[in-house]
Amino acid sequence: MRKKIVAGNWKMNKTLDEALALTSEIAGMVKDEVRSDTTIVLCTPFPYLVPVLRVLGDGSRIAVGAQNCSQHEWGAYTGETSALMLASLKAQYVIIGHSERRQYFGEDGKLLAAKVDIALRSGLTPIFCCGEPLEVREKGGHQDLVGEQVEASLYHLDEAQIKKVVIAYEPVWAIGTGKTATSAQAQEMHAFIRSQLAAKYGQATASDITILYGGSVNASNARELFSSPDVDGGLVGGASLKSREFVEIIKACSTPASP
Ligand code: 13P
Repeated sequence: MRKKIVAGNWKMNKTLDEALALTSEIAGMVKDEVRSDTTIVLCTPFPYLVPVLRVLGDGSRIAVGAQNCSQHEWGAYTGETSALMLASLKAQYVIIGHSERRQYFGEDGKLLAAKVDIALRSGLTPIFCCGEPLEVREKGGHQDLVGEQVEASLYHLDEAQIKKVVIAYEPVWAIGTGKTATSAQAQEMHAFIRSQLAAKYGQATASDITILYGGSVNASNARELFSSPDVDGGLVGGASLKSREFVEIIKACSTPASP
């Protein structure tokens, strides 16, 4: 179902004490200041999932997600974490195919398709990432590449399954660089992704899919980025590590853009 979502991707940052302090600060500010129905997700490192869930408590309006999962269900895969394990801890989301996983861990479209499947089968919502490197955009190949990434890992899903996936468009050149896509660039790519989904699954299904933007989102640029019709929220890295900044981004997703 299409929703507004702001998800923080903490990546490999923070000690446990820092992570718990950040969680309590965010939870307190959200409780006092955020009135909207924006879904809020904290994607923490694996070891912090349970302690963060404990700090949030039962019935929290903040959901928790992981940043990766194994493509396998169970078994002799030393060092891996399964989607079922994540679901059993009450994580609700899992990021799949972040560009850092594609780049540093060699994850390709076929592997990511298997991860999406296992996440869905385990009852998790995959946040599937796609996005082009700078050299591809400079040559004008960005739509082709993103179209291929989405096709390779998602097009085997049926209509009911694809509606459960959240897509995050994260241009690689905008991640951690302070260089954000303009809202026009984000809107153009989100509309393209939605049109591809419409061609494959029909307009009604495509309109029901949540597409987030990620890449140097901060409190100053979030409102403009989120005001585009096909941008349903954000996947936020660096700025999600600062409670005040993250909560301002949540608020920017929640209120209409100023005239
Ligand atoms: P930054 O917001 O730090 O650019 O990171 C974006 C990202 O990779 C979120 O997954």
